[in-house]
Amino acid sequence: MSRAKMLILEVILLLSLVLEAAVVAGDRRTVYIANDMQPGEKLKVHCKSGDKDIGVMEVEYGQVYKFQFNVNIWGTTLYYCYVFWKDKGVSFDAYRHSRDAKKCFVCNWSFSLDGAYWWDVQQRQWILMFPW
Ligand SMILES: *[C@@H]1O[C@H](CO)[C@@H](O)[C@H](O)[C@H]1NC(C)=O
Repeated sequence: MSRAKMLILEVILLLSLVLEAAVVAGDRRTVYIANDMQPGEKLKVHCKSGDKDIGVMEVEYGQVYKFQFNVNIWGTTLYYCYVFWKDKGVSFDAYRHSRDAKKCFVCNWSFSLDGAYWWDVQQRQWILMFPW
């Protein structure tokens, strides 16, 4: 192998190590989606990102749908969810880095009879974001 090829391989190896370290050290986020409706009411929750499908889950009253991920180094991390209840549905961005980077490391959503609330960590209060 020529010296030039060796050098290119070494640079590629080094770059991939740096990228991997950045991803590993990258901050981890957690999203909770809670069913706070009322006893007996079930929600169907489905969250995804561009390349990951968290899956569909039936969430009983009092239970949560939870997932975790590392944000990417490009700042484009986006997880969106669909929540269905009876004949109603809400779709929303559960975590959008451009919006949430400094707002939540643990991002909590709570569904109650009037809609989807988001927990504002700074103001320490639930905010109704998406009515049913
Ligand atoms: C988010 O929800 C989870 C599960 O309900 C709870 O354990 C946690 O304390 C909540 N975190 C915040 C910041 O509200």
